[in-house]
Formats: sequence, C-alpha cells, structure tokens
Amino acid sequence: LKVIIINGPNLNLLGRRQPEIYGEDTFEDFMLHLKGKFVDSDVELSYFQSNHEGELLDKLHEIGWSYDGIVLNAGAYTHTSVALADAVAAIETPVIEVHISNVHKREAFRHHSYLSPHCEGVIVGFGLRGYELAVQYFV
Ligand code: DQA
Repeated sequence: LKVIIINGPNLNLLGRRQPEIYGEDTFEDFMLHLKGKFVDSDVELSYFQSNHEGELLDKLHEIGWSYDGIVLNAGAYTHTSVALADAVAAIETPVIEVHISNVHKREAFRHHSYLSPHCEGVIVGFGLRGYELAVQYFV
C-alpha cells in the first residue's frame, strides 16, 4: 500500500509558525512518529512539501495513478486554487483533505475549500493527528 502526504505552502514552517495554532512539532519529527505507528502495517509512507502551486500540480499528476492514497494539506491554496481542485478531480488516486487547525473556527475566507468536493473525505481541527487518521483510513 502506497500513501503519500503532500503539504502545501508554509507547512515547511511547522513548529515555528504560529505554534498556538499549528503546534510545536516539526513535520519531520512527526513523520518519524507516524512511520513508527504504521511500522507493522504494509503501508509505505512518503512525504512531499512545496510552496509552489505548479510543483504541487506536477506532484499530483506524477503520482495520480500510481498510489493508493494521497493525504493533502494544500494550506492556503485550499481556499484559492481552482487548478489544484481540477488536478484532484482529474487523478484516480483518492485524496483525503487535511487541515491541522479547525478552519471553520477561523476567518470566513478559510471556510470554503475548492478541493473538498473532489476528496474522499475531509479531516479538520485535530492537529497533526489528522494526518494519522487519514493514513489509518487508507490502511
Ligand atoms: C491549514 C489551514 C489554511 O487555512 C492555512 O492557510 C494553512 C494551514 C491548516 O492545516 O490548518 O496554511 O491548511
């Protein structure tokens, strides 16, 4: 089983960026924890992060027919990018949308997602645990 976690813009700053909202763990540390959690299942976990919309599109195209699941936190592009929504709709691999914070408790512009209509499911507000829940779903 091949599952990839894809993080969009500013998520490389996790641990340093607004820790009161996004927590104090870096994603690299969290990935180690996550791989440990799934060590006994046959899931092969990989990770990709980019701050560039086009790179996220290229990555979705590249893996879109060859993985079993994609866990996608597109950051702010969630609320702006028709192109990313089209890519999620185009590919065959199912996508779960994850947000660390509860976007519905925050500014109104974070309440709408272009991606959600094309995703298998959406997990918001559970911190980094949301990624774990999404991987668990695919497993
Ligand atoms: C986020 C929520 C987005 O609104 C924000 O732009 C992010 C992170 C989250 O994980 O809570 O960059 O996707």
